[in-house]
Amino acid sequence: MKILAFETSCDDTAVSIIEDGVSVLAHVTHSQIESHNQYGGVVPEIAARLHDEHWYSLLQRLFSDSQLQLSDMDCIAVTVGPGLQTSLLTGTTIASFLSQLASIPLIPVHHVFGHICSPLLERSFSDFQFPVLTLTVSGGHTHMYRLDDWTRVQLLGATRDDAAGEAFDKCAKMLGLSYPGGPVVSRYAEKGNPKAFDFPTILLEKDSFDFSFSGLKASVYRLVESQSGELSESFKEDVCASFQAAVVRIFEKKVERVLDRFPEIQALHFVGGVSANKSLRDAFLSLSLRRDIQFFMPTKFLYSTDNAAMIGAAGFVLSQKYPERLQVQFTDANPRLDLLAFLA
Ligand code: KG4
Ligand code: ZN
Repeated sequence: MKILAFETSCDDTAVSIIEDGVSVLAHVTHSQIESHNQYGGVVPEIAARLHDEHWYSLLQRLFSDSQLQLSDMDCIAVTVGPGLQTSLLTGTTIASFLSQLASIPLIPVHHVFGHICSPLLERSFSDFQFPVLTLTVSGGHTHMYRLDDWTRVQLLGATRDDAAGEAFDKCAKMLGLSYPGGPVVSRYAEKGNPKAFDFPTILLEKDSFDFSFSGLKASVYRLVESQSGELSESFKEDVCASFQAAVVRIFEKKVERVLDRFPEIQALHFVGGVSANKSLRDAFLSLSLRRDIQFFMPTKFLYSTDNAAMIGAAGFVLSQKYPERLQVQFTDANPRLDLLAFLA
């Protein structure tokens, strides 16, 4: 089954063609990072305009790269939320229009469910063992889910304040580093001393699977404010290294907590933009080896950050679970149903 997928929930305009949930036949993206950089974060109005400007040429490129056309598609999948409302509108409007034009079904997909399905890309369904603990960690979300199969998803815990990626972004901002902060903080951290500053490992109540990064952020803020004069490069490197070490400690402890509570878990999946972080990846890899469970991340970094391929994979999973959906034309589809079914 070939699925044409759209993802426009934030600052990437992405379209993709996915076959049977795992094969990426074509994938094109326009990243808006350059346009938002100077503002230190995503500006919704600019994001919406850029999605509108780019979707058509991206779609043309997608079809020419893949030598396929709309009439070859079996259905369309699109992110319906959560995200910036005005950005989501571009994707949902085009997807609805094309599904009507081609008379093919439209599958509404929850953005986080897309991330959850991202390890499937360029793998095979038989590679995976369940139950799985999935960590979805990005600029907008930090969640731990238990998966008993691809569609039986239970939320175990989430951040009570900042998302982990957001904490990286804010740490970078306090140090006067560029946006998005994750990549630059991890680059600085490579040269710094992770023990230079004793940032707190905030774990909340002893049985809690939730996260909180606001205390860690406040500690960085207080330290930076206490400095006089311009911050030296070596100070920034030490702050980044110590901050990153604290984030790693928090995640390690939380994952251990879940594995102690659910010893039947067979695999750890790490998805979302923050999975680009090498220290976190290394920590999870050795934890998985120690616990003798599988460890999966998306096969490529571009499938970790926001992308349309994961929405196609998720669309396929949904189409298998709810075949009746494939009979439904877009006018009858209620995107809210999927939001509630998976993440209520
Ligand atoms: O999944 P994503 O592309 O978009 C959201 O849905 O938010 O994730 C972007 C987030 C940003 O907060 C960015 O700073 C973070 O992922 N990020 C990283 C790294 N690369 C990107 N965080 C830590 N270390 C990295 N190497
Ligand atoms: Zn995301």
